[in-house]
Amino acid sequence: MKIILLAAGKSTRFKSSKHKALHDLLGKTVLERVLTTMHALQSKQIQLVLGHQLPLIAANLTHGETYIEQKEQLGTGHALLTGISNFDNDKENSIEGILVSCIDTPLLRSKTLESLIQHTLLHKAQIGVLTASLNQPFGYGRVKRDGNEIIAIIEEKDASEEEKQIKEINAGVYFFNMNLNALKQGLNSLQTNNKQGEYYLTDIIEWAQKEKLSTIAYQCQDPDEILGINTKADFSECQKILSMRKVKELQTKGVLFLHPESQIVSPETTIGQDTVIMPNCILSGSCRLGEGNQIGPNVYLKNVIVGNSSSIGLNSYIEDSTIGSDSSIKYSHIVQVEIGSSCSVGPFANLRPGTKLEDNSSVGDFVEIKNSLISSNAKVPHLSYIGDAFLGEDVNIGAGTITANFNAITGEKGQTKIGNEVKVGSNSVLVAPLEIADGCMVAAGSVVTDNVKDENSLIISRNQQTVKKGWVKEKRNPQ
Ligand code: UD1
Ligand code: CA
Repeated sequence: MKIILLAAGKSTRFKSSKHKALHDLLGKTVLERVLTTMHALQSKQIQLVLGHQLPLIAANLTHGETYIEQKEQLGTGHALLTGISNFDNDKENSIEGILVSCIDTPLLRSKTLESLIQHTLLHKAQIGVLTASLNQPFGYGRVKRDGNEIIAIIEEKDASEEEKQIKEINAGVYFFNMNLNALKQGLNSLQTNNKQGEYYLTDIIEWAQKEKLSTIAYQCQDPDEILGINTKADFSECQKILSMRKVKELQTKGVLFLHPESQIVSPETTIGQDTVIMPNCILSGSCRLGEGNQIGPNVYLKNVIVGNSSSIGLNSYIEDSTIGSDSSIKYSHIVQVEIGSSCSVGPFANLRPGTKLEDNSSVGDFVEIKNSLISSNAKVPHLSYIGDAFLGEDVNIGAGTITANFNAITGEKGQTKIGNEVKVGSNSVLVAPLEIADGCMVAAGSVVTDNVKDENSLIISRNQQTVKKGWVKEKRNPQ
């Protein structure tokens, strides 16, 4: 079987500078979602018909799909004719079958497509059409039937008042179980005498009727599946349906959503039982959360792995990161970070790429860390910047301490290595490159510029305190 995906249209109704298929739908583009569904079918070739923004779409075809250009977008019928123009005609008696779908229906399940194909073959029909019965069929082509047979598909714009009452609609997915030559003949017979002046693929049904070919409708069990994204409102609806499908599935697996309506959960998410998701969370991309976690409210997670019994609370944003078990995170921004078990982060921490927190370490409020290893039991509790650093086990960094890792003359970044059990007093500046041996103490307010190799040393680098007795009184009351 071959698959043709129609994707050349300008998506005028979507009103976007970007092709609608390239928009992110819960961590994957619409295009990726449709291609994943199609790859689940056993197909020898997936070919796209491209036109509008061809190079951008083509750059995203990474799994062996081919494409062909439809230079002028003259309608879906013309698109399919273009789409099959490079195929060799089938040999007699060996019909391969062509599945045709639009690029804007990302909710379709591969199981449904398989059923359409089976249904068409079983009834020995030449054209199988996927349909659905909708309470609000507005905008879709209406399916006129005679029993199982379809006699015509009428577009909304061309439909009479009576035809508009028909609830069964065309999903835009077809299985052509006919000789390629015959299909080309059918497509070549299409006319543009309709309201939009286009070659409608849907008119092939009337050609089939004339040719005494058999057509059959396969009605989709779940009408949500056929939703086609034409407008931004359709896109929102699509995201809502995709997310709710997942929420419902996770509820059956013991996940508690305190306010299911406010959650956005991607299909790729997995969550263990007894995890509680509080209101307004977005779980995008592929997140894997273990059991007994507390997530939310207002948490955004994209491609995040969490162990068990952790709490990720209140207004945190976390991307491409892992978090162990029994850890707690609040009001923090975390990207490309590895956090161990029993760690505490925030409130208000900014953990940047390349940061690793080992088990039992903690990072407190207004702390920024970048490309650094914080070993187990180490603490950076308040108001610090740690960049390009290694902190040993049991290190404590006093409030307001920073690593000065940037040399403004050379433009280079230096490393800071702080040994095990080092205690750095508040408001110190550790000027990189720098190494401090195990067990040292840095006096508060020090600017440390030289390596200290001797363990357990006290490092003081600041002016000696002087006390001028009675100075204030004398200044205020001069004799
Ligand atoms: C189409 C069907 C309609 C069906 C609906 C289902 C036709 C005439 N109408 O309407 O019966 O109910 O889908 O969602 O087929 N495209 C091209 N080249 C073109 C024109 C379109 O590649 O010249 C592509 C588009 O990129 C899109 C697909 O074909 O992916 C469908 O086009 P669209 O304009 O969205 O058709 P609908 O009006 O939704
Ligand atoms: Ca459409």
